[in-house]
Amino acid sequence: MFSESTLANNTILITGGGSGLGLAMAKGFCRSGANVAICGRTEEKLIKATKEIENEREDSKVGYYICDVRDHDAVSKMIEAVVADFGSLEGLVNNAAGNFLSASEDLTPGGFKAVVDIVLHGSFNCTHAFGNYLIDNEREGNILNIVTTYAESTGCAFVLPSACSKAGVLAMTRSLAFEWAEYGIRVNAIAPGPFPTKGAWSRLVPSKIFEKKFINKIPMKRYGEHEELANLATFLMSDLAPFITGESVVIDGGERLQAGQFNFINDLMSRKKLKAAFKAMRPKK
Ligand code: HXC
Ligand code: NAP
Repeated sequence: MFSESTLANNTILITGGGSGLGLAMAKGFCRSGANVAICGRTEEKLIKATKEIENEREDSKVGYYICDVRDHDAVSKMIEAVVADFGSLEGLVNNAAGNFLSASEDLTPGGFKAVVDIVLHGSFNCTHAFGNYLIDNEREGNILNIVTTYAESTGCAFVLPSACSKAGVLAMTRSLAFEWAEYGIRVNAIAPGPFPTKGAWSRLVPSKIFEKKFINKIPMKRYGEHEELANLATFLMSDLAPFITGESVVIDGGERLQAGQFNFINDLMSRKKLKAAFKAMRPKK
């Protein structure tokens, strides 16, 4: 889909790039010619991921940074270190997140805070430090925020801290897209539907029955593939999308459209039987 130079001359920092979708995007960016920096809290994971990303391209430049995005000072130091190591920084993907299933009445203040701190404050910390670097140095750049489909309008039961934080990140996306357009900084978001990852599945998909229900909600009856998300991210981070800013692109196989009033009919019987039933309802000539 992209050439080896689609992201040439770009260094991109992906928070939480040591696993799951962050790692998939890091590999995709690398294949398209970018230099890649990843961060997370677990060094072991980052070392393994760095090797995997390096394997994607012979002349790749990849670096990892141990950093908790909740810590503004640590984030500022990381941005300085990335610029020192790579020479410049053109892109940031706010991908690091925390989430778990809980009845909202059982949440502790610490549980709510842990997720909001990672998702909302973490995204702000990275965006603020990166934005200031770009503005101070009169450089243009790209920010991509990974949100969720429930950030836009529905919210979501049993993941309250995540729903609140991701909605905040979406608001940040649109606010800054407008405010920072004059600096040549684009700010977009991707709202993924379900893409199996160890991090998400271990916390959010507890059983096979659950899994079956989960997949049944998706009209395409399958999960997303990591590369599909990486391709979308590559497009939004590249010069192929120079006029797109403040946008949130959903990639979910149609899952978010469940609310359509008559969509439930699809699950009642086979298409053949449905068609026969509809035919029987037609007015007689
Ligand atoms: C209730 C919980 C909990 C749980 C932790 N807590 N797990 N409460 N149910 N399952 C509470 C703790 O009791 C504590 O509150 C507070 O949260 C902090 O817990 P720690 O373990 O000390 O925090 P920390 O090590 O910082 O871990 C943060 C975390 C953890 C968010 C809780 O899950 C994590 O590290 N997650 C990172 C990766 C991740 O979540 N990936 C999935 C993203 S998927 P008290 O009050 O006791 O101090 C995603 C996509 C959604 O977002 C859409 C899918 C389709
Ligand atoms: P994941 O593998 O658990 O990824 C989360 C990453 O963030 C991990 O590498 C984790 O590494 C890092 N991280 C967590 N807290 C951090 C912190 N405080 N500082 C720095 N790094 C931190 O989960 P994923 O499924 O790939 O999720 C990636 C993104 O996609 C998230 O934004 C998630 O909300 C979004 N998303 C996923 C799905 C899905 O179906 N998978 C659907 C919608 C949205 P450490 O723990 O080592 O720090």
